[in-house]
Amino acid sequence: MSDPVNARRPSKKAQADLAITNIGQLLTMNPGKGPKKGACARNLGILEGAFLASYQGRVVAFGSQDCFYEDVELIPGAKVINAENKVVTPGFIDAHTHLVFGGWRYDEYSQRCQGASYLEIAEKGGGIMSTVRATRQASRTGLVQRTLDFLDEMLYLGTTSCEVKSGYGLDFDNEMKQLEVIKECNQRHTVDLVPTFLGAHAIPAEFRNDREGYVKNVVKMLGPVQERGLAKFADVFCDAGNFTIDESRNILEEARKHGFNLKIHADELENTGATELACDLAATSCDHLVKVSPEGINRLSSSDTIAVLLPATSCFLGKFPGAPGREMLDRGAAVALATDFNPGTSTAMSMPLCMTLACSMLGFSPEEAFIASTWNAAWASGLGGKAGGFAQGFIMDALIFDASDYKEIPYRFGTNLVITVVKRGKLVIKKN
Ligand code: NIG
Ligand code: FE
Repeated sequence: MSDPVNARRPSKKAQADLAITNIGQLLTMNPGKGPKKGACARNLGILEGAFLASYQGRVVAFGSQDCFYEDVELIPGAKVINAENKVVTPGFIDAHTHLVFGGWRYDEYSQRCQGASYLEIAEKGGGIMSTVRATRQASRTGLVQRTLDFLDEMLYLGTTSCEVKSGYGLDFDNEMKQLEVIKECNQRHTVDLVPTFLGAHAIPAEFRNDREGYVKNVVKMLGPVQERGLAKFADVFCDAGNFTIDESRNILEEARKHGFNLKIHADELENTGATELACDLAATSCDHLVKVSPEGINRLSSSDTIAVLLPATSCFLGKFPGAPGREMLDRGAAVALATDFNPGTSTAMSMPLCMTLACSMLGFSPEEAFIASTWNAAWASGLGGKAGGFAQGFIMDALIFDASDYKEIPYRFGTNLVITVVKRGKLVIKKN
């Protein structure tokens, strides 16, 4: 295990244009190699009485406050933020969202609260298809503005990087429209976005009687998406009522040939063996896993595929307790958390809220919830080794919380304790 106390000190004074000083608890996440499992997934690498400094958006030094002037040379005009003994953590990384969509689905929520199931609603043309209709109708400019507004809200809650999926277009033009919206928002907004192509989110109405035809269409879209540089990952909703194991394997194997990294919406509604498929294909992540089998957990434990758990979705759908997170952690699987923000199954954007739900519903400790929302979430989003922790050269994305102990953050359920956000070494939010 690397030792942050020794790893932190630069050999000579580090030039800095931004520093956070007088930090009560600095959660470094104990940077090491790869996603964290087992005991490593509980070690937050905490420094008490610390400073953190960056230059041109990258971390250059951190360590004991006593060594600040010895270790750091502030350049003229440098920004110094006094943390007043509060908690500082890396920015949250939301590893699974469907951020770009038209409309809302509050009528369906109301029906679900009165007993209708997610699949029943989908079978009647609601669910994903209702958002597909609204997204197809929405203009690119309208979607961009709405997504930028969502991103403002997420940043306020401490999310500094976010994976975003397409999948509400389901035809060539509308999937491209969604992916171009993600690209434009990534250029315009301070939150970093990682795009995922999810053409295989559902079979659109016009292909209801021709599944094979739609699978072929998805495969045909892979080339243009790749050539235009519009996605890093390809994902498939492999579940009851959606894509079968064979269809999913076919799409994902083609996606791999085009150079995409892989994700799967796996074993959410029913167990179909999608987690095992993710491990077979060495997917970066498999997500949901509410109905994962013991064999699926076994396979995850001995693989590099990260289990991305979405407790806000289980909570919003009224499915308690949700994925067997405790068992996955105990068996040594690498686990990340995400919001799954979308208009049907999770309207939550708050990573601290997901941490609370992971602790209360899935049996995580606060330490495990932090690693899962930062370090492991970075690996699940293709940002591993660059974000999600503090080490020299990492992107300087940092949060200051109005808390003197990190455990207060999942504990203060539903309260936004983020008071300061630094993104790529720039102060972007400062409350009071
Ligand atoms: O991750 N599970 C599939 N996709 C989304 C739901 C999307 C929707 O209902 O619009 C999810 O929960
Ligand atoms: Fe999802």
